[in-house]
Amino acid sequence: MTAPTTTSRKNFRRSKSKRLLVIIIVALLLLSLIGVVLFFTLRHKISDSHSPKSSSSSKVPVAAIQLACQATQHPETCQTSLYQSNIVPPNPTPVQIIQSALWVSSQNLSIAQSMLKSLLASAAGNQNITNVAKSCLEILGFSQYRSSVSNNTLPFGKSKNVRAWMSAAVAYQYDCYGGLGYHGGNSQEINKTRAFLEDLITLSSNALSMIVSYDLFGNETRSWRPPKTERDGFWEDPKLGGGIGFRSEFPSNLTVDATVCKNVSSGCYGTVQEAVNAAPNATERRFVIHIKEGVYEEIVRIPFEKKNVVFLGDGMGKTIITGSLSVAQPGVTTYESATVGVLGDGFMASGITFQNAAGPPTYQAVAFRSDSDLSYIENCEFLGNQDTLYAHSLRQFYKSCRIQGNVDFIFGNSAAVFQDCQILIVPRQENPEKGEQNTVTAHGRTDPAQSTGFVFQNCSISGTAEYMALYNSNPKVHKNYLGRPWKEYSRVVYINCSFEALISAEGWMPWNGDFALTTLYYGEYKNSGPGSNLSERVTWSSQIPAEHVNTYSVQSFIQGDEWMPTSASS
Ligand SMILES: *[C@@H]1O[C@H](CO)[C@@H](O)[C@H](O)[C@H]1NC(C)=O
Ligand SMILES: *[C@@H]1O[C@H](CO)[C@@H](O)[C@H](O)[C@H]1NC(C)=O
Ligand SMILES: *[C@@H]1O[C@H](CO)[C@@H](O)[C@H](O)[C@H]1NC(C)=O
Ligand SMILES: *[C@@H]1O[C@H](CO)[C@@H](O)[C@H](O)[C@H]1NC(C)=O
Ligand SMILES: *[C@@H]1O[C@H](CO)[C@@H](O)[C@H](O)[C@H]1NC(C)=O
Ligand SMILES: *[C@@H]1O[C@H](CO)[C@@H](O)[C@H](O)[C@H]1NC(C)=O
Ligand SMILES: *[C@@H]1O[C@H](CO)[C@@H](O)[C@H](O)[C@H]1NC(C)=O
Ligand SMILES: *[C@@H]1O[C@H](CO)[C@@H](O)[C@H](O)[C@H]1NC(C)=O
Ligand SMILES: *[C@@H]1O[C@H](CO)[C@@H](O)[C@H](O)[C@H]1NC(C)=O
Ligand SMILES: *[C@@H]1O[C@H](CO)[C@@H](O)[C@H](O)[C@H]1NC(C)=O
Ligand SMILES: *[C@@H]1O[C@H](CO)[C@@H](O)[C@H](O)[C@H]1NC(C)=O
Repeated sequence: MTAPTTTSRKNFRRSKSKRLLVIIIVALLLLSLIGVVLFFTLRHKISDSHSPKSSSSSKVPVAAIQLACQATQHPETCQTSLYQSNIVPPNPTPVQIIQSALWVSSQNLSIAQSMLKSLLASAAGNQNITNVAKSCLEILGFSQYRSSVSNNTLPFGKSKNVRAWMSAAVAYQYDCYGGLGYHGGNSQEINKTRAFLEDLITLSSNALSMIVSYDLFGNETRSWRPPKTERDGFWEDPKLGGGIGFRSEFPSNLTVDATVCKNVSSGCYGTVQEAVNAAPNATERRFVIHIKEGVYEEIVRIPFEKKNVVFLGDGMGKTIITGSLSVAQPGVTTYESATVGVLGDGFMASGITFQNAAGPPTYQAVAFRSDSDLSYIENCEFLGNQDTLYAHSLRQFYKSCRIQGNVDFIFGNSAAVFQDCQILIVPRQENPEKGEQNTVTAHGRTDPAQSTGFVFQNCSISGTAEYMALYNSNPKVHKNYLGRPWKEYSRVVYINCSFEALISAEGWMPWNGDFALTTLYYGEYKNSGPGSNLSERVTWSSQIPAEHVNTYSVQSFIQGDEWMPTSASS
């Protein structure tokens, strides 16, 4: 976890009162900075794409905007930004209002990108700023893409998809904001850019909240209201017939497009990355890479353009992709530490071990990181210590996997379902006998409107043989928890899992004081084993009411019935 820390998160909220002043200053600076060119471009677009030129402020559909803005956490900002934008047509439909809100956020996102570009240009010798500005530009590009696809899809239904994409668009903006705070220093220009990003996040959050209300209540804007969570007693209705027992199946008859093996004289690729490079851009067809048994010591990146890439290994422990980047090394961020990092949608994998073998001192060292929407991973193993599996964004499914680590080792802000997975604690690398506090998850939802969370169904939590020996020699000093809240709206549920005695009676651990304890949702349902006794659980965790368990089914939570392979479809 790179860290927008708790402290920066708190500042984020506290500084709201100064925001108006900052907006005004920033706006003035920007006008002189970006100048007439952008100004005229925007005016051109305004008159181009929406209401006719004659639309004066008297024609602004105030009442309709006020109703729709009830859906947001920041109704005043929502209203003001829409009035000023002057692009909401008379007698707007709810979809037109949401599209206008998306337009406003997208315009400001473009400005944020310009600001990052000039930050990069003026960073010259400063490697920290150069790195963070570059990764900001990359991730804001993804934000722009997901937001634009959301806008284009909205009029045609599929609002669950739109919610997933806009949740990611907001998350990426937050990542940039947090990254700048963590790596960018305190210069005036960094502060200015962060303040602008804060406002951008608010605008995008407003659009996302309206999308949620549209999905829940349809065109009846009178019913729209700010996003609620389980802690407010709100559960979304599950999909009809969408029970917990959904069975998918990894396709068994895939045709191999490329082979990777250790003996290149047999005509295969010698590295996984070379095979990935051979995959075409943006095809709907799967590109299947068979990675034969062997240890592949390399850093692998699947770019955004390469969709539907499939990794077929010869089995966990046989096909091993391993790296050892960690945040202990200069210039390496948590995100970049990943041995394998996937950006392209529709990624699939089976029969592979993903490993980060970074030695002590233990820092964030990711084995596998995914931003792949609709990704499907089965029979894979993830080995590491701190931050093993970075399920960063969008919808992901893991089945029959083995995941090992100690600190926050399943983390991120995706909507991920883990079915039939084995979760194993490993000893700390330094002074393991001294004792420690480990957490299985650190989910990082920043906005109650985001459709993200970690769902574990029929999992088991235990320790490796080595850890169990350590634990049993002195159980009192070895504490293990189901999760802790990386961000304010952290959401994790365990259903039908079995917990060994190593899970502490309190169950869950705070992040920092009372941070997030009233906003997170940590739910348990029908778990078994000595670690599942609920009598001493922390008061801020919950038992999922039986009638709401299906909210966390594969079908309801990640729409798996619409995209996951089954025995009938493979
Ligand atoms: C959003 O989609 C509408 C059509 O549904 C289009 O007119 C508008 O330009 C799009 N806005 C953006 C920011 O892409
Ligand atoms: C950016 O957002 C502010 C409101 O925070 C708004 O006044 C301004 O018009 C937006 N910029 C654009 C180009 O839409
Ligand atoms: C870059 O970041 C590192 C670690 O955070 C810090 O030690 C170093 O001083 C920074 N360099 C500059 C030029 O700010
Ligand atoms: C930037 O913001 C930080 C924290 O809010 C503050 O300590 C610092 O003085 C600011 N830098 C400038 C140049 O104003
Ligand atoms: C909202 O109304 C439009 C027609 O104006 C219709 O096409 C759309 O399906 C409605 N949306 C919902 C969620 O009912
Ligand atoms: C795999 O089998 C299914 C039927 O079970 C078929 O529909 C599909 O086309 C096959 N795929 C390939 C790549 O042969
Ligand atoms: C490598 O592949 C070549 C060609 O298939 C084969 O002749 C050779 O025996 C293989 N070497 C090893 C060590 O397996
Ligand atoms: C794939 O997309 C990338 C990024 O846009 C581009 O650089 C590359 O040339 C494309 N490759 C092909 C084969 O089109
Ligand atoms: C639960 O997971 C285990 C593997 O950990 C599997 O063998 C078993 O079939 C699963 N049970 C159900 C009911 O799916
Ligand atoms: C829990 O697992 C049992 C079988 O082990 C299954 O019958 C039941 O449906 C599962 N319940 C839930 C809520 O997953
Ligand atoms: C749960 O723990 C409490 C106190 O720690 C104990 O009294 C109770 O018997 C336990 N329940 C089960 C089912 O083990």
